[in-house]
Amino acid sequence: MDRDREVGQAAWGGHNHQSGLRPDRAPRTTSGTVQGSPAARIVRLARLVSGGGIIRTTARATSLREHARGTSRMARIIAIANQKGGVGKTTTAVNLAAGLARTPKKVLLIDLDPQGNATMGSGVDKRELEASICDVLLGEVAATDAVVRTAEDFDLLPGNIDLTAAEIQLMEHDGREQRLKQALVDVVQAYDYVLIDCPPALSLLTLNALTAADAVIVPMQCEYYALEGISALLETIEAIRQRLNPKLEIEGVLRTMFDVRNNLANAVSAELTQHFGDKVFRTIVPRNVRLAEAPSHGQSIVGYDKGSRGGIAYLGLAGEVIRRQRERDQAAKAVPAPEVAA
Ligand SMILES: Nc1ncnc2c1ncn2[C@@H]1O[C@H](COP(=O)(O)OP(=O)(O)OP(=O)(O)O)[C@@H](O)[C@H]1O
Ligand SMILES: [Mg+2]
Repeated sequence: MDRDREVGQAAWGGHNHQSGLRPDRAPRTTSGTVQGSPAARIVRLARLVSGGGIIRTTARATSLREHARGTSRMARIIAIANQKGGVGKTTTAVNLAAGLARTPKKVLLIDLDPQGNATMGSGVDKRELEASICDVLLGEVAATDAVVRTAEDFDLLPGNIDLTAAEIQLMEHDGREQRLKQALVDVVQAYDYVLIDCPPALSLLTLNALTAADAVIVPMQCEYYALEGISALLETIEAIRQRLNPKLEIEGVLRTMFDVRNNLANAVSAELTQHFGDKVFRTIVPRNVRLAEAPSHGQSIVGYDKGSRGGIAYLGLAGEVIRRQRERDQAAKAVPAPEVAA
């Protein structure tokens, strides 16, 4: 049995289951373009991730050590981002939230996309919200007052089309990229994981997510053009790391809607693994119709059909995320505390 599945199952108590620019339409800068064969592109992307300093382990040691000592519960905030549309961001956000919520972990999902798909997919009607993340970003409602409980044991900060208006209003505010980060200060102690579903754009909303986040999960389809999107995202992440959020790291690249019969998908996947190493999640999400059906029932795949191939994959992903956290915590504990002079 796959080790991450085991971790996932252990975590579930041993159950036997398993005005933003869309990047694809956006003008591309010279530095953001990755040309050539898929292999050449991936080599360039790998440089962006490692050489560019996005992967940083030592700098996090101190804060992780504090976290590991258990002085306070502090959520790991993970943005689910890829400016390319339709790559599985929302599907990943909702189903990872539901998967993690099947463990003792406390989870908050934030719908930062005006489409409101994560809200609807979590079983909450986006047209009937008393308060939303829009009100929170504008400082009109405290985050804790906008949170709703879903039927799947995770909390949701819902979003809808009002976010588009909020984004325009935010443009005029000082510190506009920091609004979400500030709004979350009061809620992070209450959760183990905060997941943020981003819109398909390098917009102010996405910048807010990446400024608030500790890490980012990048869902991607293993196809030729997907690599161009990821290069622009990686450069955005690097810019945010330098300007706004030095701790931001890549949690992982997630292969979605994977079709094993597709030769190009297999080739791109192999190259990704070779060059990004363990930054590529071992879990691969297959193309699975049950994953596409679940949102129309207002359910995650865990609630709708956890035994489906898609369900098994997302439960495995939740296990993998938890295992990575455990490994980071153990590494942080191994860092000796600084000696205090007598
Ligand atoms: N593994 C999968 N197998 C089959 N269908 C999937 C899978 N993942 C996602 N889908 C479907 O593909 C479509 C796009 O997925 P999703 O909404 O998660 O992408 P997205 O990146 O959030 O899109 P957007 O950029 O518009 O926010 C949806 O209809 C979803 O149900
Ligand atoms: Mg989406």
